[in-house]
Amino acid sequence: MSDELTRMSLLWETIQKEEEYPIFRLTYLSKPTKPFTDEDFDDIESKSVEANNARDVTGLLVVNEDRILQILEGREDSVRELYEKIERDSRHTVIKLVCAVEDEVRLLLTWNMVVRGLNGTPPDLLKQFSQVYDELLHADGETEISIDQVELFKELALFGGLPKTI
Ligand SMILES: Cc1cc2nc3c(=O)[nH]c(=O)nc-3n(C[C@H](O)[C@H](O)[C@H](O)COP(=O)(O)O)c2cc1C
Repeated sequence: MSDELTRMSLLWETIQKEEEYPIFRLTYLSKPTKPFTDEDFDDIESKSVEANNARDVTGLLVVNEDRILQILEGREDSVRELYEKIERDSRHTVIKLVCAVEDEVRLLLTWNMVVRGLNGTPPDLLKQFSQVYDELLHADGETEISIDQVELFKELALFGGLPKTI
């Protein structure tokens, strides 16, 4: 589907859900302070699903060895408050705030955290993820993530065995 068509269908879904505020989307890159264990994933997942739901925040988290990318969407105050908490988490170090923008659509309408490590994911997808991550990391200033990139993250997320939909 073209970017324009995807946006139109997302706009339609967003209208149906009667979102009453501009959607705020924040994307950041980080790296783990030490390799994530199953306990780390379980802990993040169990806290996130409920907490994000309560805040009406959707998004996804992709963790591939030393590369972590997370997208958070919702009301601006909810997303910023959550991000401040996540940023202070000593299990990782945020290395770049890629973008923080308002939009009329939620790109991740039914997506709730969390995604596990990407075991079993085809190597070409992992390579694409590394490339996109490094491009975002080295881009000057704030960079809007594209729908294609979001589609790649969703595909990766599905290989993680999750996400849970809400
Ligand atoms: C990479 C990463 C992503 C996280 N994402 C979320 C999230 O989306 N929602 C959430 O509630 N906690 C998330 N956490 C966990 C929070 O940082 C924090 O540990 C959790 O909210 C519990 O906080 P509390 O002990 O103050 O309740 C994440 C942690 C890491 C390391």
